[in-house]
Amino acid sequence: MFHDQQAAERAESFRTGRADLAFADDAFLDHETWVRPAFTMLGNLRGKHALDYGCGHGMAAVVMARAGATVTAFDLSPGYVAEAQERARANGVRIECTAADGEKLPFADASFDAVWGNAILHHLDLTRAGRELLRVLKPGGVAVFCEPWGGNPLLAFARRRLPYPGKDRTPDEKPLIRRDLAPLRAIFPEVEVRGFQLIGMIRRVWRNRLACSVCDWLDTALLRIVPGLQNWCRYAVIALRKPAT
Ligand SMILES: C[S@@+](CC[C@H](N)C(=O)[O-])C[C@H]1O[C@@H](n2cnc3c(N)ncnc32)[C@H](O)[C@@H]1O
Repeated sequence: MFHDQQAAERAESFRTGRADLAFADDAFLDHETWVRPAFTMLGNLRGKHALDYGCGHGMAAVVMARAGATVTAFDLSPGYVAEAQERARANGVRIECTAADGEKLPFADASFDAVWGNAILHHLDLTRAGRELLRVLKPGGVAVFCEPWGGNPLLAFARRRLPYPGKDRTPDEKPLIRRDLAPLRAIFPEVEVRGFQLIGMIRRVWRNRLACSVCDWLDTALLRIVPGLQNWCRYAVIALRKPAT
């Protein structure tokens, strides 16, 4: 499978010392513009039970553990589970890591106060995943996902046709669009969607810090004035809340 292959290549790079498992929170929280605001939506994690859903490399799991949560992380790929475990060790935190399918979770009902997921929902059947999320969340719990968004036809064309760095993906995955969220809306009474990187997506091809900051500032203003433009953004943060009663 694609992700096992990716994890094996990463494991090799750790063995040869080309990559580092230890990292500071800011390196994760600021690696994309949506990560920090999305993380804030999890609320205060101290003393909470948190789940890193489709954890991949496990950086989010480490950051949640350092924020004071008791963390469980899972991924379909055993290679990534091993990397997440290694990363937890290298950063001096304890995380329960397991291989599992996001559509059939091996956890008891009402196990988690907070669920984090990055670039995972768009791999899944959202009816099955949504039902499992509702089941494992505690009443009043929240699940926050950062997902590639596909509402912008120009971006869709670029994703399909143009060469640019970091485009590796599985053949079956595709960015989410509004109607893909219908199953989640049928399961969760409260679904919040926020778009990130409208003009700011220019950083995919031009990494100029000043230009990116100006674009991000423009995005904040534009998205506030015309909320409908969220649909044209590169990524969406999706928050699912389980009612408290
Ligand atoms: C794009 S990666 C994102 C990984 C990680 N969340 C991150 O932030 O980098 C997608 C991850 O989803 C995992 N995945 C794909 N299908 C899955 C499923 N049905 N259940 C659990 N994990 C799955 C892959 O193994 C991979 O680690």
